[in-house]
Amino acid sequence: MRDILSSMDAHELRKKYIDFFVSKGHVRIEGKSLIPENDPTVLFTTAGMHPLVPYLLGAEHPAGKRLVNFQKCIRTGDIEAVGDFSHLTFFEMLGNWSLGDYFKEDAIRMSYEFLTSPQWLGIPHERLGVTVFAGEEGIPRDEDSAAVWRSLGFRDERISFRPREDNWWGPAGATGPCGPDSEMFIDMGKEPCGPSCAPGCGCGKWLEIWNDVFMQYNKDADGNYIPLSRTCVDTGMGVERTVTILTGKKSVYDTEIFQPIIRALEKKTDASKMYRYGSDDEKDRSMRIIADHIRSATFILGDPKAVTPSNVGAGYVLRRLVRRAVRHGRKLGIEGCFLAAISRVVIAEFCGPYPELEQNSAVILDELQKEELKFLETLQKGEKEFEKLLPNLLKDPKKVMSGRLAFKLYDTYGFPIELTEELAHESGLTVNKAEFDAAFAKHQEASRAGGDVFKGGLADHSEITTKYHTATHLLQKALQIVLGSHVAQKGSNITAERLRFDFSHGAPMTQDEIQRVEDLVNEQITRDLPVTMEMMSLDAAKAAGAMALFGEKYEAQVKVYTIGDFSKEVCGGPHADRTAALGHFKIQKEQSSSSGVRRIRAVLE
Ligand code: SER
Repeated sequence: MRDILSSMDAHELRKKYIDFFVSKGHVRIEGKSLIPENDPTVLFTTAGMHPLVPYLLGAEHPAGKRLVNFQKCIRTGDIEAVGDFSHLTFFEMLGNWSLGDYFKEDAIRMSYEFLTSPQWLGIPHERLGVTVFAGEEGIPRDEDSAAVWRSLGFRDERISFRPREDNWWGPAGATGPCGPDSEMFIDMGKEPCGPSCAPGCGCGKWLEIWNDVFMQYNKDADGNYIPLSRTCVDTGMGVERTVTILTGKKSVYDTEIFQPIIRALEKKTDASKMYRYGSDDEKDRSMRIIADHIRSATFILGDPKAVTPSNVGAGYVLRRLVRRAVRHGRKLGIEGCFLAAISRVVIAEFCGPYPELEQNSAVILDELQKEELKFLETLQKGEKEFEKLLPNLLKDPKKVMSGRLAFKLYDTYGFPIELTEELAHESGLTVNKAEFDAAFAKHQEASRAGGDVFKGGLADHSEITTKYHTATHLLQKALQIVLGSHVAQKGSNITAERLRFDFSHGAPMTQDEIQRVEDLVNEQITRDLPVTMEMMSLDAAKAAGAMALFGEKYEAQVKVYTIGDFSKEVCGGPHADRTAALGHFKIQKEQSSSSGVRRIRAVLE
């Protein structure tokens, strides 16, 4: 079957999408950081709608009711699957948003126009099929959406009603806005796999390119679906996936999104017999893993709220991405360090839409190089040890390596379990992962690196985290009063148990300084100051003396939160209404975070 477009790259798709929705009265808003602020439930921004959750739940957005954007996202849930033709850890999502403005009818009509109009994507009507929600558990079948599709000329066999697992959006297990969705598919021209083959069938005939979610409910912590007072639309079109499908490529790695990275990687393989992508399955898989992982690592390190490699949280994901890339580089026979060279290509390719990559390029390249060198040493030691163990391991009739032994490699040589598993796998062995996990959990009791940090999900703006958020504003202002105006926020992380705040300051705080900061914060709590919000332009906010994060992107109109006469900050919220609700503020720890940056951990009692 003919490709729909002879060529299309990510830049063109982004531009068309934004232009189309701007022409329909939407305001373009900036995408947000990859590291969610004050959301303890996830490590990364996992979907285009993620930073917009408070607005989907009813908060007023400074840019209005019709928005359009593209958002960088990371999902690490299936990091192990990366290397096939479709899974990615980093991806971009295009989205248009109605916050209590249009609903199903207009959303679907606009989607259809963008997909089919020759001025936009120009997909022939005959190549499209859609799915809608079939209804269940007291939530009705979505006849409204089906009727709109019918009015656009879709015959019933092109409209497939599907159950919750296919046509409902709102991440599993999470609280937050959710509702039925309607997904759009391209017919790839294959024969139907059977009589029930219809849009949404996973046989490969139908590939999804867009998802219109009709946010109608808020799922609360008890699992109840509470109707939203204001219905919203959240749509998501994956950039990589759409470019791949429309240009008829076998995989995203064959598109212009990844080809420059693949070509740079080819050049890094042995010069005398340069490896060309496409000639060996195993080597191609390694190339795809490296290309994906370095792209993700570059975006994580280049983020305004960048984390650096570490053994916990987002830093651990970053470390894992880097290490896996290094190991696959060695499988390709690449000698020495190569990550920074590939990362340079990523920066060059993506700095147009993401200028932060260029601005932070020195940090990105330096951190990659450091981590790579460190890991190369670990790798050499660990591989040597594994080789020594191998003859004995192969004697086991069940071909299982004990979890204890795998843990010993981790504990003694820092050799990651994923790599032990890969090495074991290559020799026809499996690792007793449950036993490893048990040993690991025992070891980690204190440091909380549990598996759930990899899951996707939504923010839980519970009351307590809201209070911590307000306390963080008080803390920042108090630090500036006590230590000086050089104090600037470098990071903030809030859970239901504590706040953690990183800020620029060159020396450890004295006991006296800590006490004064604590007293100042508690004084503001006792004064029971009102917390108010106003919307204004960023310039007006700065002129009013509001603190704003350097390097963070803001909308044209921003929210400014004012706490009595004490603090004024540009911030998305939410916040407590008055300070007395906070209780008593106590600093538990003050320590170094990195060079020139201090970290405070504090609780509300
Ligand atoms: N939230 C939906 C998705 O991620 C649509 O944006 O697919």
